[in-house]
Amino acid sequence: MTTRRLASTDDDLATGGELLRAGHLVAFPTETVYGLGAHAMDADAVRSVFAAKDRPADNPLIVHLAEADDLGRVAQDVTPLARRLAGEFWPGPLTLVLNALPEVPAITRGGLGTVAIRVPDHPVALALLSAAGIPVAAPSANRSGRPSPTTAEHVLADLDGRIDAVVDGGRCIVGVESTVVDARGEVPVVLREGAVTREDLGIGRAAPDAAPDLAASPGTRHRHYRPDCRVEVADPGDAARRAAELAARGQRVGLVAREPAPEGVEALGRFTDAGGLAALLYGSLRDAEDADVDVVVVEAVDETGVGRAVMDRLRRAAG
Ligand code: TXA
Ligand code: MG
Repeated sequence: MTTRRLASTDDDLATGGELLRAGHLVAFPTETVYGLGAHAMDADAVRSVFAAKDRPADNPLIVHLAEADDLGRVAQDVTPLARRLAGEFWPGPLTLVLNALPEVPAITRGGLGTVAIRVPDHPVALALLSAAGIPVAAPSANRSGRPSPTTAEHVLADLDGRIDAVVDGGRCIVGVESTVVDARGEVPVVLREGAVTREDLGIGRAAPDAAPDLAASPGTRHRHYRPDCRVEVADPGDAARRAAELAARGQRVGLVAREPAPEGVEALGRFTDAGGLAALLYGSLRDAEDADVDVVVVEAVDETGVGRAVMDRLRRAAG
């Protein structure tokens, strides 16, 4: 299969919308990471997403909508909590888990009775979703287990020849995925930390932690975000020293930190705060592979705000 490169022009987005309606796979940018889109109500189309990504079949997909008013096309028993969160955070990086309508294919839901839904905050994503006119299931557009893609080039590095098209909308601004929240009850239960913080949700540290029940949050049990080199997390302020120490032992070392890279260490990214690390983390892990380093040292950030999601991803990348 030849993967078509689409631009974010009206003509190309109309083409992307037609491809999606016809059951084909189209990757597209969102504010968080690139998604690999398929017709959410077409079981064959969704099955081909799992095949293209090598994704375990028990890990359900997020359904993307052009507007909150479309919720009733895929969900039922929409709670007052869900309506409030949708009103406050959509379009945006918050995914709501609700009871699914029976028309949503089981493969989209990973066999669960619920469906995950969000309205992304990205002009190209919204234009494509409107052009398609259907609910679009979209996991991150990487091979399963790899760092999520934040550019069209990252998508092609993993999926060229395996998907029908990719819409190039430049670099994703946020860089970590949406927060997944079970919105069936009276208070939000965080199933995956993400770009909308607990502070944003007003649940702070007092709230119950990420659901210990893995069946409720299937994605969290699989291997994730790993580049094909080692990833080491360093304490704040200690990353450059640690990188130099590893380099002195003869290893090829990359550094992602607040400080500049010392002599003999590959500079893979500098940031000033957790949001900055979020924006460059996945790209720097892919750059580490391209630079052929043995190990990439990444400086930790505080686990407040978006730092929680970033440290969650970083720990998984480090295995
Ligand atoms: O920012 C994002 O969320 C990106 C962009 C493309 O929207 N998408 C994304 O999709 O990260 P994915 O497939 O990589 O992650 C989806 C997460 C997984 O952890 C999955 O288990 C969870 O959402 N999920 C999906 N449906 C669910 C459901 N019905 N119940 C609980 N968790 C669900
Ligand atoms: Mg993913």
